[in-house]
Amino acid sequence: MDVVLISIMMSRRMRLLPVVVGLAFILAFASVPAAAPPVLRLATTTSTDDSGLLKALLPAFEQKCACRVEVIAVGTGQALEIGRRGDADVLLVHARQAEDQFVAEHHARERRDVMYNDFVVVGPAADPARIAGIARASDALAAIAKAAAPFVSRGDRSGTDTKEKELWAAAKLSPAGSGWYRSVGQGMGETLVTANELLAYALADRGTWLSMRDKLPALRLLLGGKTIAENQDPALRNPYGVMAVNPDVHPGVNFALATRMVEWLVSPETQRAIGAFGLERFGQPLFYPASEDPRTTRDVTVNIGPVSRTLTLDALRALPRSRLARHAIVGVKMGPLGVHDWAGASLADVLVKADPGITTRAHAGSRIVVTSSDGWTATLFWDEIFSNPPPGLQIYNTKGCNECHGVLAEGTAPAAKRPAPALAGEPWTVDAVLALLRAGGDRHAGMNGYTESQLRRADLQVMIEWLRRPAAASRDASRPAPDRPVVLLAYERDGQPLPGRDGLIQLVVGQDEFAGRYSHWVKTITVVR
Ligand code: HEC
Repeated sequence: MDVVLISIMMSRRMRLLPVVVGLAFILAFASVPAAAPPVLRLATTTSTDDSGLLKALLPAFEQKCACRVEVIAVGTGQALEIGRRGDADVLLVHARQAEDQFVAEHHARERRDVMYNDFVVVGPAADPARIAGIARASDALAAIAKAAAPFVSRGDRSGTDTKEKELWAAAKLSPAGSGWYRSVGQGMGETLVTANELLAYALADRGTWLSMRDKLPALRLLLGGKTIAENQDPALRNPYGVMAVNPDVHPGVNFALATRMVEWLVSPETQRAIGAFGLERFGQPLFYPASEDPRTTRDVTVNIGPVSRTLTLDALRALPRSRLARHAIVGVKMGPLGVHDWAGASLADVLVKADPGITTRAHAGSRIVVTSSDGWTATLFWDEIFSNPPPGLQIYNTKGCNECHGVLAEGTAPAAKRPAPALAGEPWTVDAVLALLRAGGDRHAGMNGYTESQLRRADLQVMIEWLRRPAAASRDASRPAPDRPVVLLAYERDGQPLPGRDGLIQLVVGQDEFAGRYSHWVKTITVVR
């Protein structure tokens, strides 16, 4: 048939072409079935499937992408294995450490937050181990072990199973092999059905429990409270992340479609749908939206006295492009946060753009308060940007002490965190403070100890001199202005626009070694005298 068509085209040339093309179309559609839509392979946990969330969400995506989503609902451990083999295009899972590991091994370029819910402990109405009223899951497990009461474990290396193993470890118990402990190697739904039959305890994600409890007459929710707000154990929080499998490592994946799904999952529209899912049926959402998008900022408002100016992301891009190359930064609790190349507008340029008078000494000593859309603030001093701050203050800031002990070491008492005492005005000795900082751990806010390379004794000495009289310690105008790294309002990381649907703005302080002032979603900058 093809041959005939081509020969007609060749002989009659252009005159016949429309007819021939039309004929070719008709023949093509008559003889070959319409092309099947592209398939996106989503490996995910059983909880997103059992709870009905995916059935509610996915049709909208399939319509948008004109594709078909093949859902592979397994435990998180298995989903990650499938991703490691390149047999899925995108993963929606919940085992934070294992996810970070997956990214560290380059199987994905990044992980994005999608949603969270929490875990609860369910068990027989008679509650033979008497766990109702206990706040911490690890204490409840210890009580179950002590009573040798039946417990059903998923035993499938899923996110829930990983969490359960963490909780047993926290209770310093290893129940495997005990007669009362039964590992079923099944998904959440099957595990709950088994617990219901055996009158056993189990750890469940709240979403699956709520969606199935009508079919589980023998079980009650015994630990975790009626809603996530009542859950008293922070160890039971359950975050879900999404990752597109990296095409550099697994060339066979459909990265374009996977990226579309990631963007769609974190979009405000889908995030709203996630937050609304289950609300009507269960009186509470089964999952809470967690993507950074609702907080993403697209402009920054600068307030200097009576001057107020808003610069859009495009306005920031129009300013000279500043860079911080190979910038390494350490989180006080999480350790190194990675090495990145940043690009953006320098804070100095942004302030000058808003008010060229900002560089005059009349502003010396002012604070520059950078506030993010989630309420987090980072404070810099005018002297850090345009002059010479006292060296002790500079060390205090770059080493991240400011994050907890306050801008001028006045102490802070943030909600739900340990209060960090005032350090200003105290007669500290270097030895005592150094011992505390090197030890870290429970003696010092659960922090990693500061190593010799992270904080030298000589620097601490300078800081302590400043701590004795921080307010009075003055600038030293005789010192030459330091060759200081830039403070950036970054919009690019490693050559890519920052994630967040339409780009977000991040404060990166070049001279800081610790992440005390590293802030996402910068919204306003206020210069305070
Ligand atoms: C993550 C928050 C955090 C950071 C960062 C931090 N601290 Fe602390 N620090 C605390 C808390 C909280 C305490 C109170 C003890 C406790 O609860 O662990 C404390 C206690 C101290 C104490 C003892 C105070 C007293 O009255 O006994 C000193 C001294 C101290 N910190 C110095 C520093 C210095 C210097 C830095 C920076 C190099 C620093 N801290 C960084 C949170 C922090």
